[in-house]
Amino acid sequence: MLSQVMQDAINEQINNELFASYSYLSMSAWCEHQQFTGSARWMRMQSEEERRHALKLQDFLLARNCRVILQPLAQPVVDFESVSSIFEQALAQEQIVTSQIDKLYELAFQEKAFAALVELEWFITEQVEEEKAAREIVHKFNMVKDDPASLLDLDRELGERQAEEAGA
Ligand code: FEO
Repeated sequence: MLSQVMQDAINEQINNELFASYSYLSMSAWCEHQQFTGSARWMRMQSEEERRHALKLQDFLLARNCRVILQPLAQPVVDFESVSSIFEQALAQEQIVTSQIDKLYELAFQEKAFAALVELEWFITEQVEEEKAAREIVHKFNMVKDDPASLLDLDRELGERQAEEAGA
């Protein structure tokens, strides 16, 4: 059985992952409304990915015979300056999640929650991938700047994202 402090922290991370999902959904809606359909697709897939992260933690708690206590979700940002700024925010969001996972891992270490440590290793690896993906896209937007033709090309490229690319 996990300690109460560990259970609370994992429940909190479920909320963090669901908030990330909600936030990506909001970004996706903005992109779609602005006719950046490729970026919208990328963001929607990322939203689904974050939901799967929440479910992975939920399943872990249940497998350990612990309770899942879902919390209210905060409202995500709904207005953005530009499609490039959205990806900058996505990168910043991933960096925040990385620090949340690191803290959770540290807590699991202190609590000697060995099964949780193994579970969280998957998330640590995943965060490396997610930050890398977001960073590469931000870099591309920085190169393209405001050139409309290049922006459309980049948007098309983002729309080619495949589900399996994104991992679990
Ligand atoms: Fe589940 Fe992108 O953090």
